Amino acid sequence: MRSHEAGALHGQAGTRGPQWLREPDDVNALVPHLWADNVSKVDGVLTVAGEDVLDLAREFGTPLYVVDEDDFRRRARAFRDGFGGVEVYYAGKAFLCVAVARWIAEEGLNLDVCTGGELAVALRAGFPTERIGLHGNNKSVPELRRALEVGVGRIIIDSFEEIDRLAALSAELGASAPVMVRVTAGVEAHTHEYISTSHEDQKFGFSIADGSALEAVRRVVAADGLELVGLHSHIGSQIFVTDGFEVAARRVLRLHAQIARELGVTAPELDLGGGFGIAYTTQDDPRAPEDLGREITKIVADECAVLGVEVPRLSIEPGRAIAGPSTFTLYEVGTVKRVALDGGGARLYVSVDGGMSDNIRPALYGADYSCTLASRESDAEPVLARVVGKHCESGDIVVRDEFLPADVRAGDLIAVPGTGAYCRSLASNYNHVPRAAVVAVRDGEARLILRRETEDDLLRLDVE
Ligand code: LLP
Repeated sequence: MRSHEAGALHGQAGTRGPQWLREPDDVNALVPHLWADNVSKVDGVLTVAGEDVLDLAREFGTPLYVVDEDDFRRRARAFRDGFGGVEVYYAGKAFLCVAVARWIAEEGLNLDVCTGGELAVALRAGFPTERIGLHGNNKSVPELRRALEVGVGRIIIDSFEEIDRLAALSAELGASAPVMVRVTAGVEAHTHEYISTSHEDQKFGFSIADGSALEAVRRVVAADGLELVGLHSHIGSQIFVTDGFEVAARRVLRLHAQIARELGVTAPELDLGGGFGIAYTTQDDPRAPEDLGREITKIVADECAVLGVEVPRLSIEPGRAIAGPSTFTLYEVGTVKRVALDGGGARLYVSVDGGMSDNIRPALYGADYSCTLASRESDAEPVLARVVGKHCESGDIVVRDEFLPADVRAGDLIAVPGTGAYCRSLASNYNHVPRAAVVAVRDGEARLILRRETEDDLLRLDVE
């Protein structure tokens, strides 16, 4: 890095952007694998399942999350059918609302919720409760009570305190609690530290290495009212290679065999969690669910053969890989500023009408996104651009590096693909910006599934 009198950060500029970014031959063209199945451009205007974004922006406003419903459902089915016949729990934390819970139910998947709030959405949707799993490293007593009262299919235990709480509640309610024990396998997943969950030095789960996991199972087995239904391991999120799953599966299966040997019980199910990566930019190269499924089920079968134990029932919990690619966010450009770069050339700062309140991922994880000019074709040359939001922070970045046509201007629409997971679900009201609406498009029809927040919604909490 060159030194710079204003500090290191200012020395990183370059007119070509980061190394992975390629200047496109045609700045209007979409990179197909970054977009949902039914998205294309018609005369330069982005279209999804027969609806063009000009109409969507007119009818629903911007910023707007636009879901290709058939794409979402297809990905759900791809995991259900393609992943070696394992049980699939959609991780609702990626994105959940009543409509999505219904899609998941209709496509025959189960649902993972991790708070009372997510459980409430599932209940409102009429989701079959025996197909719901409840997660959380610090579930409250009311959350646990509600889960038992409505009869969720499994509660994934994450602490010794929770074992005692659940035992007390099951005695109080006279209800047996089906539980899984969440273990940490000591795996360093190759992903951002904040979304890596199976190494030892973090808050989730019982460590296999220090014996806590075995002790937790021992206490569950000994407790009245608790029924051990399995072991659970989630190694992290946005992972592209199977080696982390392989190490974790081996370690958990060894624990599974040890439990059978030492405690004389069999945990019937092994859940390997979620974490399957998706493509946000051309840097990312995700695997198909069928390939992942084939590899992971083989790893499990081989290890069980070595250990001489029966293969347990398997389950997984994909969130991002189902919801993420189905959705793009549509923004309107408000201002464009040209900044001269150190090495010559310039960068366009394109300000849109949303930002870190509808997608915190660039600010939180340094996540990269891509985008396209969505409302028209341009014959201007590609220039390096940075799409930024309307919030009062310079870290309020939507797309750090992308080539956009040099004539991008106020009133244009910009679309950012891959925003179906962990964008609306992590949305905030920072700077008192109302949260954006979500619209689902299918067969030429657009249906609002989460309405836009209003200023009245924001003011409703003020106590005068
Ligand atoms: N199961 C458990 C226990 C989890 O904690 C998670 C994600 C999943 C399944 C689903 O993982 P997925 O298939 O979606 O990767 N906000 C971060 C991601 C946080 C993931 C939290 N747990 C992000 O935007 O990258």
